[in-house]
Amino acid sequence: MVQIMQTTRKPIVVVGSINMDLVAHTPRIPVPGQTLIGTGFDTTPGGKGANQAVAAARLGYPVQMVGMVGEDVFGQALLDNLTRAGVGTAAVARVPGPSGVASILVAGNGENSIVVVPGANGKVYPAYIDKQAALIRCAGMVLCQLELPIETVSLVLALCAEAGVPVMLDPAPAAPLPDATWSQVTWFTPNETEAAFYLDKSPEPEDAAQQLLAKGLHGVALKRGAEGAFLAVAGGEEAWVKPFPVEAVDTVGAGDCFNGVFAVALLEGNDPWAAARFASAAAAIKVTRRGAQASMPSRAEVDALLALST
Ligand code: RIB
Repeated sequence: MVQIMQTTRKPIVVVGSINMDLVAHTPRIPVPGQTLIGTGFDTTPGGKGANQAVAAARLGYPVQMVGMVGEDVFGQALLDNLTRAGVGTAAVARVPGPSGVASILVAGNGENSIVVVPGANGKVYPAYIDKQAALIRCAGMVLCQLELPIETVSLVLALCAEAGVPVMLDPAPAAPLPDATWSQVTWFTPNETEAAFYLDKSPEPEDAAQQLLAKGLHGVALKRGAEGAFLAVAGGEEAWVKPFPVEAVDTVGAGDCFNGVFAVALLEGNDPWAAARFASAAAAIKVTRRGAQASMPSRAEVDALLALST
């Protein structure tokens, strides 16, 4: 892949959630009222924001995280893990009360179901973002998701629009967005169910992308799991990015891996399709291993998979 050598790279700034994932591995996702015997249990760092930050940092790109963890035992472990991954944590505050947690089931085929209890993430109010405004304004790109209060995400988007900083918004979990959002977002990256949430029905990817662009977005990357990704740019091209066939054991954080790596590849000067192909390769490696942050691949691993498939 093309890399632009830069002496001073503006950091990716991720404003988002930091969770401890409590993961039960199970033969299948139980139906309501059913009890199953699990096959394993992991306590492992997650959170859509932190996952995206780690995915980008694993490629050696400078990344700063803005968020909050609790003053519990998980809070210190989550901070330590971000630091070990190379993510800057000067803008991660420790606040009284519990850290965010996610109760996760991972089925034998890699599928998952997730319930997030926000904890400290729910305390990242606009007043905290005001204190981080200088960091946000100097970002190469800002990555957001929807696990922080919506008024906080809106303020971040407004700051970025004012400063001319590109924004990648992962609308996960899907939630209503203020009208101003659409024109403030450079890349919108829903999965299939999230895209359907913002449209009247669930159209084919080509239609979904055009309908989303019509809201005022610059670019849409529809994440379609094993089908690959479909990208479209306002007034420009649209095309599929093919998947990398792998045997999935854990899909938790695969979409986050895509976003973090996609951001790096875009900032390194790749066109969106080359960047998405690089990100798809990274996500394909991620799903072959357990854990969200623990399984984010290195640049060498991604390059190796791409070399195998060309
Ligand atoms: O996208 C996966 C993530 O969603 C998990 O790590 C969990 O913490 C939730 O935020």
